[in-house]
Amino acid sequence: SGDGTGTAVTGAGTSQDQRTASGENAQTLTTRQGHPVSNNQNLRTVGNRGPATLENYQFIEKISHFDRERIPERVVHARGAGAHGVFEAYGTVGGEPIEKYTRAKLFNTKGKQTPVFVRFSTVGHGGHSPETLRDPRGFAVKFYTEDGNWDLVGNNLKVFFIRDAIKFPDLIHSQKPDPVFNRQTGQRIFDFIANTPEAMHMVSFLFSPWGIPANYRQMQGSGVNTYKWVNAQGEAVLVKYHWEPQQGIKNLTAPEAEAIQAKNFNHATQDLFDNIKKGNFPKWELCVQIMSDDEHPELDFDPLDDTKIWPEDQFPFLPVGMMTLNKNPENYFAEVEQAAFGTGVLVDGLDFSDDKMLQGRTFSYSDTQRYRVGPNYLQLPINAPKKHVATNQRDGQMTYHVDAAPSQNPHVNYEPSSLNGLKESPSQGPDHQPMYTGRLIRQTIDRTNNFGQAGDRYRKHEDWERDDLINNMVGALADAEKVIQDKMIELCTNCDADWGRRLAEGLKAATNADGGNQYNDQQAGQAVQQAEEMAHD
Ligand code: HEM
Repeated sequence: SGDGTGTAVTGAGTSQDQRTASGENAQTLTTRQGHPVSNNQNLRTVGNRGPATLENYQFIEKISHFDRERIPERVVHARGAGAHGVFEAYGTVGGEPIEKYTRAKLFNTKGKQTPVFVRFSTVGHGGHSPETLRDPRGFAVKFYTEDGNWDLVGNNLKVFFIRDAIKFPDLIHSQKPDPVFNRQTGQRIFDFIANTPEAMHMVSFLFSPWGIPANYRQMQGSGVNTYKWVNAQGEAVLVKYHWEPQQGIKNLTAPEAEAIQAKNFNHATQDLFDNIKKGNFPKWELCVQIMSDDEHPELDFDPLDDTKIWPEDQFPFLPVGMMTLNKNPENYFAEVEQAAFGTGVLVDGLDFSDDKMLQGRTFSYSDTQRYRVGPNYLQLPINAPKKHVATNQRDGQMTYHVDAAPSQNPHVNYEPSSLNGLKESPSQGPDHQPMYTGRLIRQTIDRTNNFGQAGDRYRKHEDWERDDLINNMVGALADAEKVIQDKMIELCTNCDADWGRRLAEGLKAATNADGGNQYNDQQAGQAVQQAEEMAHD
């Protein structure tokens, strides 16, 4: 109306009128301008042998859209599969009302259902790489809650290689293809790990069969990083999230994975889609571990260190709800490829901890998504909350609609205003207000304890898992420089003397078998002896 008062804005409509011209119907092919296409087989040319003309809008529109079909892949987790489903809350945690710990509404009532979208992934390789590779598996869940979206961006394994976000690009570079050979090498992976002792706990899982889940349905999920829950009084506890598959857990040895890969390198995507299509809906129970919000000096590790597991006997898994995946995507690109998850996406009652990885991650996700998908990625149906969205954010590439409230004055895209603009919501409860004092420094945490839990894991593995771990490490390290092999034998020995001894023996045997090009007998003999001496200490 131009007078600055309350005209309703609803955004661009998406409804489509049926075509009416004679002979046309709902199946009629058109251009994106809505022009019917009567000839989709031939360019417009001068005579039927060419040349083509440049004003051929129909062709240019079609081919130039094709030229832009690819968007950048995710820099990590490029290969993935997704599905829709529902999360149903139990309303309690460990037999107590859940409100004691969190006021997050999605958990508060037994039977409350929240729609979800999940994307599973592998990490290191490109968008169509084999799903049999040794790699952590991503397990990212978007909850479309009544309070807006919550993303729980996790992995299958419960720990990570590093505990400080500044090291992430180096970690990933070491696992990506070599910049000269353009292939992943064991040498580069272990060059980084040999100089990163906190990675040993992750290595104890990743190079065992736990590094190749049989498919996406039969694997666990974990938030890995530590978060907080906040209750109605603004009080917080530390919390870790775990997804427990109701289908059981199944992992593969390297030979088993090779046999699958020889026939089908999309087996996990296919397994998920086919099972959902058949009505065999996979389910995961969401469990939490809870710890009071302090430093816990009585533990031999730091609760905020994501290279550590919180021992289950002290911090039991407490179930809070069940997730069921029951609908396949209708279009892979629109839903799975364009889905954007981030650790910053929390709802009221959920909060960040001071976990240094989590804080670094939280910047990274939305930053990459503004580049990968575009600045308006949150307007896409897969990413948009299913409830009320009303912002004063406007414009930018590919604006799909205006994020305005129906009653909002269209002239007022700012706040505060007296002219019927958007208003702040009432507070949902007192903020959690942790107190901080300390020097601004760059320093490693005190309780690094890099080897304790890794050694425990080595001993807890079943025999076949331990054998596979040694074989896989020997395979990956056989062609590495001696300095890297030696450091890895030393790190394994620090975790468990038997681990170091078996790696040294395995490397010796591998070297003998291939003529000993890099790692000679004498060196291997010394390493075995050193590992044995440490075993006797
Ligand atoms: C994806 C960064 C650690 C799980 C991504 C992406 C980036 C990223 C940039 C691509 C996102 C996109 O294009 O949409 C980081 C950084 C980390 C870190 C900087 C450490 C500082 C972790 C950890 C986990 C994890 C510890 C496991 C808990 C995932 C998952 C995805 C992902 C599951 C794929 C999400 C999807 O399916 O779209 N990460 N990440 N990341 N990350 Fe991380």
